[in-house]
Amino acid sequence: MNEYYGELCTQIYEKNKSIADEKELEFFLSFVTDKKMKVLEPMCGNGRMLIPFMEKGIDIEGFDISEEMLRVCKLKGQNLNLNPNIYFGKIEEFKNGKNYDLILIPFGSFSLLPDELAKESLTNMKTLLKENGKLLLTVMTNTGSVKEIPDWIETNRHYLDSNEIIEYKKVNYDRSSKMLNTKLKYQLVKDRQIEESEIMDFPIRLYESGEFENILKTNGFNEIILHEVIDGYGEGSSFHVFECRT
Ligand SMILES: C[S@@+](CC[C@H](N)C(=O)[O-])C[C@H]1O[C@@H](n2cnc3c(N)ncnc32)[C@H](O)[C@@H]1O
Repeated sequence: MNEYYGELCTQIYEKNKSIADEKELEFFLSFVTDKKMKVLEPMCGNGRMLIPFMEKGIDIEGFDISEEMLRVCKLKGQNLNLNPNIYFGKIEEFKNGKNYDLILIPFGSFSLLPDELAKESLTNMKTLLKENGKLLLTVMTNTGSVKEIPDWIETNRHYLDSNEIIEYKKVNYDRSSKMLNTKLKYQLVKDRQIEESEIMDFPIRLYESGEFENILKTNGFNEIILHEVIDGYGEGSSFHVFECRT
C-alpha cells in the first residue's frame, strides 16, 4: 500500500493549493447547468474544487483515502459555515447507493492510479453515473522530458507558522508500467532538530498521446470530447480534460 497525503504533506498541499484557480474552476463549473444536478468528486483531497462548488450552492459530495486531506477539507468548509458531505473511500470500490449527473476528477489525480486500478475505477464510475451522466477527468501525459533523480535532493523549504518543513524528492521512471515513481520526504524542523519525518509515494501514470482515449473507449466510455483549458492553472499553463459519456 502506498503512503498517501499524511499530515505534513497535507499541510503543504493546503498552503499551496487551497482553492482552485479561477479559470480551472470556471471550466468545471460550466458543466453544472442546473442547480438540481448531483455532483461527485472522487479523490477530492482538501476540497480545493469541492469547497468553491459548495460555495456556489452546488449539490456536491466527495471521497478520498487520506484521512488528513478529508479533515482539512471538513475544517475549511466549517470555517465558511459549510458542512461538506465527504467520505473515506477508494475510487475503485466506492459505492453509496446514489447516482450522479456529473463526476469530476481534476488536477491529474486519476494518474495516481496504476493501470489495473484505473480500469476498475472507470468501471466503478460507470455504476455511479446516472444514465446520460458525464465524467470529467484529467490525466498526466508524457511530454518526453522525464527526469529521474536517483538520490534524495532538497527541493523546497516551507515556512508554516513558526515551523520549517524541508521537502526532498527522488524519482524513478518504470518504462514497462509507464509510472513515474516519485517519493517526497517532508521533515519538520524545530530548533535545528528533526521533529517529524514523513515519506509520501507519489506514483504518476504518464499517458502517451491518444492512449487514455483508447482506455476510456475500451472501458465503455464511447462519447469523448477532449477540451483544452488554456491558462487553467495560471497564465501560460494549459491542461486537457476528457468529457466522457457511456
Ligand atoms: C493530488 S490530490 C488532488 C486532490 C483534488 N482532486 C484536487 O483537485 O486538488 C490526490 C488525492 O487523491 C487521493 N487518492 C489517491 N488514491 C486514491 C484512491 N485509490 N481512492 C480515492 N482517493 C485517492 C489522495 O489521497 C489525494 O488526496
